[in-house]
Amino acid sequence: MTPKRILIAGANGFLGGLLTRHWLEQGHELRHLSRRESAQPAVKLYRWDGVQRGEWEAALEGVDVLVNLCGASVNCRYTPANRKRLMDSRILPTRLLGEALRDREEALELWLQASTATLYKHTLGTGWDESGELGSDPRAKDAFSIELAQAWEDEFYAVLPSNCRGVSLRTAMVLGRGEDPNNVLCTLRRLTRLGLGGSMGKGNQYVSWIHEQDFCQALDWIMEHRELRDALNLSAPHPLPNRDMMQLFRKQYHRPWSLPAPEALLELGAFFMRTETELIIKSRRVFPAKLQQSGFPFRYSHFADALNDLAGGTH
Ligand SMILES: NC(=O)c1ccc[n+]([C@@H]2O[C@H](COP(=O)([O-])OP(=O)(O)OC[C@H]3O[C@@H](n4cnc5c(N)ncnc54)[C@H](OP(=O)(O)O)[C@@H]3O)[C@@H](O)[C@H]2O)c1
Repeated sequence: MTPKRILIAGANGFLGGLLTRHWLEQGHELRHLSRRESAQPAVKLYRWDGVQRGEWEAALEGVDVLVNLCGASVNCRYTPANRKRLMDSRILPTRLLGEALRDREEALELWLQASTATLYKHTLGTGWDESGELGSDPRAKDAFSIELAQAWEDEFYAVLPSNCRGVSLRTAMVLGRGEDPNNVLCTLRRLTRLGLGGSMGKGNQYVSWIHEQDFCQALDWIMEHRELRDALNLSAPHPLPNRDMMQLFRKQYHRPWSLPAPEALLELGAFFMRTETELIIKSRRVFPAKLQQSGFPFRYSHFADALNDLAGGTH
């Protein structure tokens, strides 16, 4: 791929770190837009607050690709204050970027916007590709998440310049190698080692996921394939039930058996861990139809291979 000038907003988080390392290796020119000092000194940093326009807009000059990852972590209790924080942290930076782009003379080639596979309806059925049904389900307790995710995508399409290709990245949970609070692999590994790696809730709910390497390479693929636009699912082709996933964790970390955690226990645990059970009990069965139809070669299609690669050598 010819080197691109790429601006990452919300660059200091889990996915921003992955993409930064990946794209630096590929020889792209990177810029970071962040509220804090960059963890990556090799990249030019533009400071902003995600709310107000200002000198940071120089970051957009000459940029080919904008990647907006801004959004506070959903791993919290959905109190009224947190709901507002989660919403503002997604809507305001998106709106601000759109306003700044509107006043720019040169056209932006591509805007990659973080979104989530959570948008699709809870299902134990055949699953959803990009044309799947969106919305909440009381069994999944996901009314707020859907409201948040929908407002986030709506804002993106409202401000996306008409001459710019836009893709909303409906991403499933990204499994990575590094220690990061947003790397679910770390949380599940910790629980498994503590003997808490039993199936969760009913255990039949599907888990959609993607290996960090496929996540990064899918973004490269999208950059190269100009026909790809609008909503795109970033998830491995084989989602699996929670009970199968936990069994693979137990096998990987040599815990032959763990007590299953029924929903009532999960509610209690979630309260003490200051999080929501929806992140576990919702059945997310999502398929990356657009990526597959365009020929994207997934390196890790099956969870066992991804776990084996990411956890290799750790017990
Ligand atoms: N990780 C996953 O598996 C996954 C899956 C699906 C969707 N997503 C979405 O993808 C995005 C990136 O995920 P991540 O795991 O990298 O999350 P993360 O580690 O929490 O990083 C998100 C970044 O958003 C920025 N941010 C937070 N609040 C902000 C605010 N009020 N104003 C402006 N920027 C703000 C921060 O950037 P700075 O500190 O640099 O300013 C932060 O580093 C998130 O929106 C997340 O919801 C993630």
